[in-house]
Amino acid sequence: MEYLDVAAELAHAAGDVLRHYASRDKQVEFKGKSNLVTVADRESEALIVREIRRRYPAHSILAEESGISGAAADACWIIDPLDGTTNYAHQFPVYSVSIGFELHGILECGVVFDPVRDETFRAARGKGAWLNDQPIAVSCVGKLAEGLLLTGFPYDFRERADEALALFRAFLVRSQAVRRAGSAALDLCYVAAGRSDGFWELGLNPWDTAAGTIVLEEAGGRASDFSGNDFTIRGTAILASNGLIHGEMLDAIERVRQP
Ligand code: IPD
Ligand code: CA
Ligand code: CA
Repeated sequence: MEYLDVAAELAHAAGDVLRHYASRDKQVEFKGKSNLVTVADRESEALIVREIRRRYPAHSILAEESGISGAAADACWIIDPLDGTTNYAHQFPVYSVSIGFELHGILECGVVFDPVRDETFRAARGKGAWLNDQPIAVSCVGKLAEGLLLTGFPYDFRERADEALALFRAFLVRSQAVRRAGSAALDLCYVAAGRSDGFWELGLNPWDTAAGTIVLEEAGGRASDFSGNDFTIRGTAILASNGLIHGEMLDAIERVRQP
């Protein structure tokens, strides 16, 4: 569990960076039309990348703000230094640090840290998933109509609004409720911890999903693409659930795509 412990240590250190700037000037800049970056994203990432390079110079790193760096290796760290930047920039208290670790293309462990609630979600392949020191498991909700769902919208929402809204409508009318909190990494962990029963989103990147996916899977959940194939973090569309309502959710997506 060495890599898991390192991921947790660095996620906590990065969380301190987010806490530091939370009440200060965040130097908000635009990366795209609605895609922001702050000094906290940059410093959080610099800290994590610097420490991984120092400890594991032979590993490769994929991080949101700096891209791919380090050796071309089978061991790869996948980092979102601040998942939920828009929330952070607006003082909306839902955001996280996400660090996943992959070996030979298979996720081995991951940590998602919420510095606002001091909640650390973590998992290691074959060992289980935890929230702080407690093991977690997905919910037992077996019907989509009784499920509380989560989702998010991609930054290029304006270009694909029809597709995103059709999916939103389909789930809104079939579930108990839908929430949109603004941190995909936390969304996945909330499904893992049974706080939500399912999550879907279009247009995500590996750093959004790497750590959350292994937390979800180790908590007994299922992640797939929109056709039901096993999810890979290089894919962009994700459907995650407690497993029990996965079929119904796939069905809802199918009806939107082939009305
Ligand atoms: C975003 C968040 C959000 C999701 C967006 C992501 P960022 O990540 O995860 O919940 O809806 O698609 O890009 O940009 O805040 O790291
Ligand atoms: Ca993100
Ligand atoms: Ca980010």
